[in-house]
Amino acid sequence: MSQHEVFADFPAGRPRRLRRDDFTRRLVRENRLAADDLIYPVFVAEGSGLRQPVPSMPGVERYSLDTLLPVAEQCVELGIPVLALFPVIDPALKTPDGVAATHADGLIPRVVGELKRRFPQLGVMTDVALDPYTSHGQDGVIDDDGYVINEITTEILVRQALTQAAAGVDIVAPSDMMDGRIGAIRTALEGAGHIHTRIMAYSAKYASAFYGPFRDAVGSAANLGKSNKAAYQMDPGNIDEALREVALDLREGADMVMVKPGMPYLDVLRRVKDTFRVPTFAYQVSGEYAMLKAAAANGWLDHDRVVMESLLAFKRAGADGVLTYFALDAARMLRAG
Ligand code: PBG
Repeated sequence: MSQHEVFADFPAGRPRRLRRDDFTRRLVRENRLAADDLIYPVFVAEGSGLRQPVPSMPGVERYSLDTLLPVAEQCVELGIPVLALFPVIDPALKTPDGVAATHADGLIPRVVGELKRRFPQLGVMTDVALDPYTSHGQDGVIDDDGYVINEITTEILVRQALTQAAAGVDIVAPSDMMDGRIGAIRTALEGAGHIHTRIMAYSAKYASAFYGPFRDAVGSAANLGKSNKAAYQMDPGNIDEALREVALDLREGADMVMVKPGMPYLDVLRRVKDTFRVPTFAYQVSGEYAMLKAAAANGWLDHDRVVMESLLAFKRAGADGVLTYFALDAARMLRAG
């Protein structure tokens, strides 16, 4: 039946009747955002007492473990289910192969261990990729032409994921876009007895200019220089390819999939959700955050309203949840009603 046959024509049909009052608008609202939908990405560095602002991400700071603990506590208090950790690695530890990513006593395993000890009810997620650890800023090991070598990189990623799982992480999130890495990581996790470790695959991750501020935050921008990630991250013109990537990751053992960036790729999110009907997430990335912050700082946009509208748009487009640097703000607004 088409919509024309179902609804009365004007004046019997007046769609504005349902928009007249707040109570009817609430009654017929199709999608809602809740704190349960939020994953909060944070940057963590060595040291103590650290709260270092990231200039291209106003309101975002790099924390040390001790200053991160109150942030984690706020997540628990506000009902945010998961904290996603991104490391700022000491440049002295960066190497061409990024092997520090596999060290059991590294920053991330220590932070994961402490967070899970203090806040067992808070989900902790870690990124599986080598870019914070490589001297050249690419997500994997490169050959003489700067090409990221798939299989060698995957072996290191597997070790990185195993290290994170041994530290007690709940969710590993491979963001590297190597072929076959989800299957390799899943097999290794099962083999090591980590049968409960969830994999959230960055399945449709595009080679996007919207990651700029993130690369400032983790300190990989300078190392990366003029080179890009187009030989492994997806071409922004493609959408059928996103479905193939998601299909592969699900077959290889992903529990949840992700589309990234967020707002410019809502069409991809909708296609993925409609095609696979699996837990699907969107990442409102650093550049999206920076855009909204910059416009709000200039008084050009109403900060709180655009934040909530942008997050609701992910829900409407089919997301089960959103990784967003606005998670704490949004959860506070939701609580305040
Ligand atoms: C690392 C990674 C990136 C982001 C998440 N994990 C950067 C990149 O791929 O260059 C971007 C997140 C953001 O921009 O907020 N592989």
